[in-house]
Amino acid sequence: MPTRKKIGLIGAGNIGGELARLCANKELGDVWLFDIAAKENFAKGKALDLEQNGSVLGYDANIRGTSNWADLEGSDVLIITAGIPRKPGQSRDDLVATNLPIIRDVAQNAKKHCPNAFAIVISNPLDAMVYEYKRVTGCPKGMVAGMAGVLDSARFQLFLSREANVSVKDVRAMVLGGHGDDMVPVLSMTTINGVPATTMIAKDKLSAIVERTRKGGGEIVNLMGTSAYYAPATSAVAMAEAFLHDQKRLLACAAYLEGEFGYSDLFMGVPCIIGGKGVEKIVEIPLTDEEKGMLKKSAASVQAVVDICKKG
Ligand SMILES: NC(=O)c1ccc[n+]([C@@H]2O[C@H](COP(=O)([O-])OP(=O)(O)OC[C@H]3O[C@@H](n4cnc5c(N)ncnc54)[C@H](O)[C@@H]3O)[C@@H](O)[C@H]2O)c1
Repeated sequence: MPTRKKIGLIGAGNIGGELARLCANKELGDVWLFDIAAKENFAKGKALDLEQNGSVLGYDANIRGTSNWADLEGSDVLIITAGIPRKPGQSRDDLVATNLPIIRDVAQNAKKHCPNAFAIVISNPLDAMVYEYKRVTGCPKGMVAGMAGVLDSARFQLFLSREANVSVKDVRAMVLGGHGDDMVPVLSMTTINGVPATTMIAKDKLSAIVERTRKGGGEIVNLMGTSAYYAPATSAVAMAEAFLHDQKRLLACAAYLEGEFGYSDLFMGVPCIIGGKGVEKIVEIPLTDEEKGMLKKSAASVQAVVDICKKG
């Protein structure tokens, strides 16, 4: 393989395939699509289909499927979707028993084969899975982040733009806290190109949008019978691109907290600068008392799942 950047996608399912398509289309690097041995041919088939896609679209990325961790040696970025997604009626936390041993297996192999990769965890329950990844690998805190905030913020921004009847491009909003039903859409910082959203959208409509955002993943699970994958993949690729191109983007990501916002030894969604060194900085924005209260509730939910992992 040539000396392009190397991107390892752990899990070749719905999000994994879309990640591969986006990484190749954006020419971010060569892509290895990894899955368990029983699904190696599936991963290889998807990879081949996507390489043929490049022949039409004109991208040169090499895309390979594998179930051999040795093929991932030297990866610059790992994006981890290994695990099962939700079915209707399930919460993200219901996945912990199945996905905990999977993230441990992935982390042990990542530590051995890709010790220098910037890792982006997507598997749910997100904040606990990214905590466990860092605990097992022992990687520096800046070299691992969870993807949830970019997606939850995107959902929030879409609903706001539709309600205000403005382009989604002009809506600026962030969702912080854990990736669960008590996540924290930060209304005090939400603007439509600098204009506070509260001046353009009525209070009751804003409350309904906050609730819809919190249940945004479940809404899609109920419609499709499985988790969303287009927007989750696009969100993770935004984080990967920020790292690979040293873009210094300010994105809401699950980052390891050491006192920021008053929390320690916990991963949770906070505003982060993502650049060539990974999570380069956590930006502590002022929150209203109500938002601080919501963040506290969300942090308690994340901690409860982390505690289950610590016992497991
Ligand atoms: N963070 C978020 O915002 C967000 C959004 C949507 C989905 N998700 C989560 O992402 C995960 C993946 O979702 P999906 O729709 O792609 O699921 P999927 O079932 O389509 O794909 C998951 C893949 O992981 C593979 N896998 C299982 N164990 C593995 C292991 N040890 N090593 C490597 N691969 C392994 C499976 O074989 C499967 O192909 C789920 O846990 C889902 O809940 C998170």
